[in-house]
Amino acid sequence: MNLQILTDTIKEMLAEGKGLLAMDESTGTCTKRFAALGIPQTIEMRRKFRQWIITTPGLNESISGAILFDETIRQCTDEGIPFTDVLKKAGIVPGIKVDEGTVPMPAFPNEEITEGLDRLRNRLDEYKKLGARFAKWRAVIRIAENIPTDGCIDANVHALSRYAALCQEAGVVPVVEPEVLMDGNHSLERCFEVTEKVLKSLFLQLHIQRIALEGMILKPNMVIQGADAIKKSTVEEVAEATIQCFLESVPAAVPGVAFLSGGQSPQLATQHLNEMNRRFKNKLPWVVTFSFSRAIEYPAIEIWNGKDEHVEKAQKFLYHRAKLNSAARKGEYKIEME
Ligand code: G3H
Repeated sequence: MNLQILTDTIKEMLAEGKGLLAMDESTGTCTKRFAALGIPQTIEMRRKFRQWIITTPGLNESISGAILFDETIRQCTDEGIPFTDVLKKAGIVPGIKVDEGTVPMPAFPNEEITEGLDRLRNRLDEYKKLGARFAKWRAVIRIAENIPTDGCIDANVHALSRYAALCQEAGVVPVVEPEVLMDGNHSLERCFEVTEKVLKSLFLQLHIQRIALEGMILKPNMVIQGADAIKKSTVEEVAEATIQCFLESVPAAVPGVAFLSGGQSPQLATQHLNEMNRRFKNKLPWVVTFSFSRAIEYPAIEIWNGKDEHVEKAQKFLYHRAKLNSAARKGEYKIEME
């Protein structure tokens, strides 16, 4: 393993004031989002969608890396320029989602395991040739009565660690994503407890699998109540609980924590990120940034709505949302900027 290659890439990915754009929706997820907006669910529309995202003027002011999907990393612009070349030219590091999605875990009702380790070494080789310098693997942990189980947490953090080891061997930065879902009506305290347990299990397993923590980025959920919980926490409470949980569970050797938005509204996700950086930035061992999908792509995708004539307006909204998250990354976001 060449740690220097990994740390050089990470330096670019964690550049001051910037974060990651997760534009790696699987075909299934993209189909659902397009269907909800009445956009034709075709490969060409997905290509057009990704094309206007990566050609947004000034995107590189806020975005340091973009996570692509297997279909997308092979696509080109109308002019025949590979998407990865467009990103590279803009100084945005191309990344790739390498997990193959989740499936029900046998013997563990309502729990899922992420697939994709088979032949991953060969796939990483191919993705590297296509221009990817970092990768992402998402594990999903659900909170409900009697879950998550230890069996589910153990299996998922083991898969995450094996994925991370293969990435580091290939010189590809692993973005390690253990997502505790917001689905349900659980409290912030319950999310804290589960997130802490998952992170502690994850870092134990990463250690066992000999992962260099300096050569990875963590992509976690924030500590927040379930989407259906009646009691909503304040922005301050979410920021405080998240930072407390992470200080107790994430080793200082990890260079960056890039949060997912997980279904929060774009504005709330930005506010939470901002509050963490505004209050704690100078006291934290790791960079705190974003790796959002919905909290950057919305509402731009609704404005685009599959129409070529709306692309320019959609790009302006995408640029603005990315800028707001860039400000939050520095703790300088204000609600009036919306
Ligand atoms: O894997 C999850 C995505 O990369 C992050 O998406 O910000 O919409 O939760 P999200």
